[in-house]
Amino acid sequence: MEQLLQQIELYKQDISSYTAATAAEVEAFRIKYLGTKGLVKDVMGEMKNVPNDQKKQFGLILNEFKLFAEDRWNSLKEAVDNAAGDSIDDAIDLTLPGSPVNIGTRHPLSIVRNRVVDIFKSLGFSLAEGPEMEDDWHNFGAMNLPENHPARDMQDTFYISQNPSWLLRTHTSSVQARVMETQKPPIRVICPGRVYRNETISARAHCFFHQVEGLYIDENVSFADLKQTLYHFVKEMFGNDVKIRFRPSYFPFTEPSAEMDISCLICGGDGCNVCKHTGWVEILGSGMVHPKVLENFGIDPNKYTGFAFGMGIERICQLKYRVNDLRLYSQNDLRFLQQFTAAT
Ligand code: PHE
Repeated sequence: MEQLLQQIELYKQDISSYTAATAAEVEAFRIKYLGTKGLVKDVMGEMKNVPNDQKKQFGLILNEFKLFAEDRWNSLKEAVDNAAGDSIDDAIDLTLPGSPVNIGTRHPLSIVRNRVVDIFKSLGFSLAEGPEMEDDWHNFGAMNLPENHPARDMQDTFYISQNPSWLLRTHTSSVQARVMETQKPPIRVICPGRVYRNETISARAHCFFHQVEGLYIDENVSFADLKQTLYHFVKEMFGNDVKIRFRPSYFPFTEPSAEMDISCLICGGDGCNVCKHTGWVEILGSGMVHPKVLENFGIDPNKYTGFAFGMGIERICQLKYRVNDLRLYSQNDLRFLQQFTAAT
């Protein structure tokens, strides 16, 4: 029996190292091992000489050997077939429909961000970006929020523990600061980006979200320019039927400041949960750039004026797509993500 096992091992080595470049060579392999007079049959024939108490064990070994030879034959055949397909033109049927390729979809926040940026680009704004990890000066100080200013409490800040003068930006106004630092008026920029605030995560709040900030500084820029620009934006973004209203507000970096509401898209102004039954939804903060902020960057407030605004992308997305749980945006659930197309 020992001899038979050794013989099988030798055959297996031969089978493993067998190569075939043509169909004829594959056929030669089949005849040698799997044919009616092949070696597999031969070895099977030895079964009759195996003592009864070992038959079961040998049966398994012989069967495994047969499968081993068949496997090798199949892969030799496949390799030769594939090679033939490559070289023979009519082996590929070009009239067959192709296999579908699934392309990804854009994240709803990206769709809205791109749309907002495009609208402002068409008005002559250019794109500006800044770091998400900021220093105190760009996020607060330069924006007229000196240390201990009570308005710092409006935005719960994540500080970097190794160096508390660094933080995760709480608003994209920090990009305004970086632009004014490096550019001279006229300045017209649109700054999208992610911002962070230390909020408990719920359907209505998250520890990070996205904003788009706009800044326009030139001679004779007025509040009327601010209103008209934002009015144009709203019509482009939401359509002609949407109404807007401004409410006086307070931001340390703008004076005067205003928050802008649009008529609720969900209920058409009749009152619903989203607009808290007022018919209006706040979408952005805005105002005329505070003279102090201009001075911080060596821009003469007697010569130049400017307006700025900042909006939350999630809020716009909520109105456009009626997503009512902020957490959905960062859960990466494909069933959610695949519902959005750039055209809507
Ligand atoms: N930075 C403000 C915020 O995050 C928004 C804003 C930007 C307001 C620019 C006025 C001008 O709430």
